[in-house]
Amino acid sequence: MTDKEVLQLLREVKHPGKGSKDIVELDMVNNIEVLADKTVVTLAFGKKRDPLAEYLIGATRATLIRHGLPSPEVRTIVLEDERPANKPLELGKDMISSIKHIIGIASGKGGVGKSTVAVNLAVALARSGFKVGLADADVYGPSIPTMTGTEGALPMAELVDGKEEIIPIEKYGVKWMSIGYFAKRKQALIWRGPMASTALKQLVLQVNWGPLDFLLVDMPPGTGDIHLSLTQEIGIESVIVVTTPQNVALADVEKCVSMFRNESINRPILGIVENMAWFTPAEHPDEKYYIFGREGGAQMAESLDVELLAQIPLVQSIRESGDAGEPLALGSGPDAAAFLNLAGLVAEKTSIK
Ligand SMILES: Nc1ncnc2c1ncn2[C@@H]1O[C@H](COP(=O)(O)OP(=O)(O)O)[C@@H](O)[C@H]1O
Ligand SMILES: [Mg+2]
Repeated sequence: MTDKEVLQLLREVKHPGKGSKDIVELDMVNNIEVLADKTVVTLAFGKKRDPLAEYLIGATRATLIRHGLPSPEVRTIVLEDERPANKPLELGKDMISSIKHIIGIASGKGGVGKSTVAVNLAVALARSGFKVGLADADVYGPSIPTMTGTEGALPMAELVDGKEEIIPIEKYGVKWMSIGYFAKRKQALIWRGPMASTALKQLVLQVNWGPLDFLLVDMPPGTGDIHLSLTQEIGIESVIVVTTPQNVALADVEKCVSMFRNESINRPILGIVENMAWFTPAEHPDEKYYIFGREGGAQMAESLDVELLAQIPLVQSIRESGDAGEPLALGSGPDAAAFLNLAGLVAEKTSIK
């Protein structure tokens, strides 16, 4: 028997953990030596221990015996990495092919409540009956784990057709993925440039989202190369810009909007969300104090010719619920209603009824 014939026989050895694909198809047969007095098959395993390794070795041996090969011997080697170092990571566009709308949540600067809006919008969309995922692409300050009470969760990875797929964390009816799940708590994330942008792409393109109506992407604040590559390579369809009403924010918002409108990116701006639009004390729910200026967001929207999608007040409970990992949009108060209203607008503007 030739080694090619032996290879054909080995197709009978199915990997029960991989949808019963066979070891040949899975590229696990590293070497076959057919000698006069013995047959040696070498199976390759990834660095990560395959729990079915013993089973596969036994099944391979049994198959060789069944076909009358002399003194079969099964050896194993561990491959340093499942993919050769010079081969770029294969990111699956197929992972996002079942996502209807990918929306970027952007802001001119940090601390304006971009993540707060992203998380609450995600929850509100899910409450409205949509299938929703959120990718926390803010490498500088991933806050989604804290805001959703999923800190310490460790996403599982699965090998599918030789490609690693990450399973998102599900809570509150939303699928969450954050770079924060992979970094030790309080460890500073100092990724920059190409490294950050590869990590971010993985966060979206290597995740098994399943079918989604909306994938929200909490983008890093500001404008830069990361935004360009994220938008183009992930295929962000449209953008929501979050801002506070201050005059000083206008220049940043303008920069942000014009970046997405730039010829090379050219993505529609769904609208502006004015966060911290006014302050309402818990004990005086009818009062409004315009501490960052009045109607700043509305004026920005007008001068930039974009829609003002929502005005979210500065209320203590929004901050508290964020810190507690229980988004306010889960509740029934007026602030939850504001996010549900925003969700309705987003669905309408992306024309999902
Ligand atoms: N409308 C709001 N009312 C009260 N606190 C808010 C509001 N929006 C955001 N915050 C708080 O402000 C801080 C910054 O918000 P965050 O969403 O993390 O901003 P960003 O993602 O833009 O950096 C957080 O502590 C958050 O809880
Ligand atoms: Mg943030």
